[in-house]
Amino acid sequence: MKILIAYFSQTGNTEKLSRAICDAVNMDADLMPIEEVKGVDEYDVVFCGFPVHVHSVPEKVHSFIKLLPQGKKLAIFSTHGSMRANEKAKTAIEHAVSLASKAKVLGTFGCRGEVNPRIIENLAKEPVNRPWCEEAQGAFGHPDAADLADAGEFARKIIAKAC
Ligand SMILES: Cc1cc2nc3c(=O)[nH]c(=O)nc-3n(C[C@H](O)[C@H](O)[C@H](O)COP(=O)(O)O)c2cc1C
Repeated sequence: MKILIAYFSQTGNTEKLSRAICDAVNMDADLMPIEEVKGVDEYDVVFCGFPVHVHSVPEKVHSFIKLLPQGKKLAIFSTHGSMRANEKAKTAIEHAVSLASKAKVLGTFGCRGEVNPRIIENLAKEPVNRPWCEEAQGAFGHPDAADLADAGEFARKIIAKAC
């Protein structure tokens, strides 16, 4: 089996998760930023990772998932500043799943990722954003060792399902 782990990551959190997934699958795997992916035909399973942006899926990830071919086995993962149970973070992953109109989604995973303090500072200038900013500060230090272990477990389950 050949695996692709394609990720979008601006500050490194989703990339860390991608590396943990790559280590956990322990087989022939290519790990690369989503913009470097030339094609997916040679891969049996595609893992696609992204940071939640403005409660949704970043544009370049949007089109990547949408364009995956019929029946391609797909696993989706994300990092987000909100708490793990946050409805909007869950909705972003559900949205990513809904974009996979042709691919076959085998599973999803999400965990917190620390938010660039400058972004929190800027957003906090608007009082309406302050509750989220406080929540996002709690993501400091994530993804941590436990998150990376959970991501590895997720990856192994996906591979078992794909076999
Ligand atoms: C422009 C921008 C918008 C963001 N919007 C959200 C959001 O709506 N909800 C959320 O939980 N986190 C949000 N975040 C936080 C990121 O999802 C989080 O820090 C993530 O782990 C960053 O991943 P990366 O390091 O791979 O880029 C946002 C971050 C940025 C830069």
